Amino acid sequence: MQKDLPRLMRDPNLFPSEKQTLLSNIADQAASLDMPCYLVGGFVRDLLLNQPVNDFDIVVEGDAIELGAALVKKYGGKLTPHTKFRTAIWHLPSSFIIYPSSLDLITARKETYSRLGALPTIKPSTIDDDLRRRDFTINAMAVRLDGDHFGELLDPLNGQADLEKKIIRVLHPRSLMDDPTRIFRAIRYMTRYSFILHPSSVILINLESLSILNSLSGERIRHEFDLIFEEENSAQMLARLNELGIFNAFDPSLPKFIDQYAKLLNSNPPAEFGVSANRVILGYSLWLMDSSLDVVKAIAKRLDFNSELREASLAVVQLKKDLHSLKKISPSQWTFRLEKIPLIAVYAIWLVSNETALKEFLVKWRHIKSGITGDDLKARGIPTGPRYKEILSQLRAARLDGEIKNDKEEEELLNTLL
Ligand code: CTP
Repeated sequence: MQKDLPRLMRDPNLFPSEKQTLLSNIADQAASLDMPCYLVGGFVRDLLLNQPVNDFDIVVEGDAIELGAALVKKYGGKLTPHTKFRTAIWHLPSSFIIYPSSLDLITARKETYSRLGALPTIKPSTIDDDLRRRDFTINAMAVRLDGDHFGELLDPLNGQADLEKKIIRVLHPRSLMDDPTRIFRAIRYMTRYSFILHPSSVILINLESLSILNSLSGERIRHEFDLIFEEENSAQMLARLNELGIFNAFDPSLPKFIDQYAKLLNSNPPAEFGVSANRVILGYSLWLMDSSLDVVKAIAKRLDFNSELREASLAVVQLKKDLHSLKKISPSQWTFRLEKIPLIAVYAIWLVSNETALKEFLVKWRHIKSGITGDDLKARGIPTGPRYKEILSQLRAARLDGEIKNDKEEEELLNTLL
């Protein structure tokens, strides 16, 4: 079915009007430089699916750095050029109130892979070549922006037909060997849109492409898992990866995502918890919490976790293991134990256990401090040293455990400690 792309691109419910203005400024500039200018990939796919679009990638047949420089000259902002790839990031001037506040300008390119799984070598080329270097037919469409061409669809690989048939299909048989991260991408799109992977593409997920996947750096694979955890149906995506043998091929110790945890991932922390909802860290925490510490340490190494993610993942494993033995301890003991680990780890364990003490800690206990400070101890002439920490902890513990109720009682307790 022919879609009226110019109309979709001007629909503020699908594409915010301030971004439409930005695009038309870029298109005008490109036209004045005689550079055909296109929106490509996910933008076109989602627009044709009548889904709201936010991010966009701009490709020009010409020099993207030259276009960027002209835009900065006319509208301001800053340009970060990458001369090797002839791409540029335009950091928008504050007159464009747009998020994200920068955008990529890309020179249409042809890609070749010197070695399977390696990052590609690129050279400037036509939009047709640029579309042919891509992952799936549904991502290999462009819509032209400049001048009278505004809204023209370029679809040399029949992406629109596959969109209508709800099919994910690679562009050529070597695709998943060139870039096995596309296996993850296929699963994301299949699950996100309820599409199927075409049988001719399914058979390319085989021993050969999986062994190349296994040779990729942990960082590249972790990035794919991160993207999965940003999606609404992450648990289903992980289940599909597992069914297709991807866990086994990459690292057999990767656990199954436990079904009961799936819906927890989409819950937002209540505001009173004061926990920022980092979906990605929460996703890994729920995924890995029933594995052993040794397994999680090995996975963290293999997937090149950053220190924040490693710390949270290990903390959930340990806390879940310790939970039973912590049941009888006092609020102060809970607080001192939980303050050593990231809040998101406490939240993750609360989600699966509903343990009241964890909620109390998040909402109340962690905010209870003693009224007396180090300065007060100094004013009383107590020599500085480790004794300060001991005294202040004892005072705080007494407050947390309800042994003292106000500043006066705290003063009295302090007198007994000195
Ligand atoms: N692309 C590709 N192969 C990859 C990664 C990206 O061919 N391994 C191409 C696809 O054409 C894709 C475009 O680069 O559409 C942009 O990539 P990305 O921003 O990751 O994806 P989007 O299409 O924007 O989709 P999503 O909604 O998942 O972000």
